[in-house]
Amino acid sequence: MNKKPIISLIAAMSQNRAIGLNNALPWTPIPADWDNLKLVTQGKRMIMGRKSYDNPHRIWSDVGNFVITRQKDYQVDNGFEVADSLATAFKKCVNDDEVFVLGGEEIFRLALPFADKIFLTIVHENFEGDTFFPIFDETVFDIIAQKEFKRGENTPYDITILTYARKFKNSPN
Ligand SMILES: NC(=O)c1ccc[n+]([C@@H]2O[C@H](COP(=O)([O-])OP(=O)(O)OC[C@H]3O[C@@H](n4cnc5c(N)ncnc54)[C@H](OP(=O)(O)O)[C@@H]3O)[C@@H](O)[C@H]2O)c1
Repeated sequence: MNKKPIISLIAAMSQNRAIGLNNALPWTPIPADWDNLKLVTQGKRMIMGRKSYDNPHRIWSDVGNFVITRQKDYQVDNGFEVADSLATAFKKCVNDDEVFVLGGEEIFRLALPFADKIFLTIVHENFEGDTFFPIFDETVFDIIAQKEFKRGENTPYDITILTYARKFKNSPN
């Protein structure tokens, strides 16, 4: 029998909710955030938008990745698979325990209604951005973990890593 994976979003955003600029991160690398991402996503498949895939600094999982695109003949590297929608990617993951949605903005917007968990790093500075983490209804989530890192603690900025867990599930209809 099919089961449903935990659907987790993982993102880092600035105080002004920027997540990207010119198809890159708006900030210099944040090792503490990178370490957290590697830890929580280990052994889990990932889903990303085509623009996030088509990025010199792309992130991927060693166990499998889906690239969401409307392009019929889009070619991807080994270890990646094309999906024509988020729903298609979710269907291919029905037997996974957990799957991670990596962004960017367009894919976060599509995925937020289905998110069981959100791993959200807040970078406590404002950055110029052209893509943003969508405002979401935080009242339907509990914050179940919170880690603070001060500038100099493996990070060039003060950051907070939050884990949200949905309080109740959407009705399947
Ligand atoms: N800070 C973070 O945590 C983080 C994480 C990830 C990415 N980012 C940043 O986010 C930026 C990219 O975000 P983005 O919003 O521009 O792009 P994106 O979400 O990565 O990808 C958008 C693409 O996804 C496909 N797509 C969107 N909706 C679709 C649908 N309903 N059905 C099928 N395909 C669909 C389209 O691909 P086609 O055009 O090929 O059809 C679209 O162009 C970059 O700057 C990146 O660095 C930041």
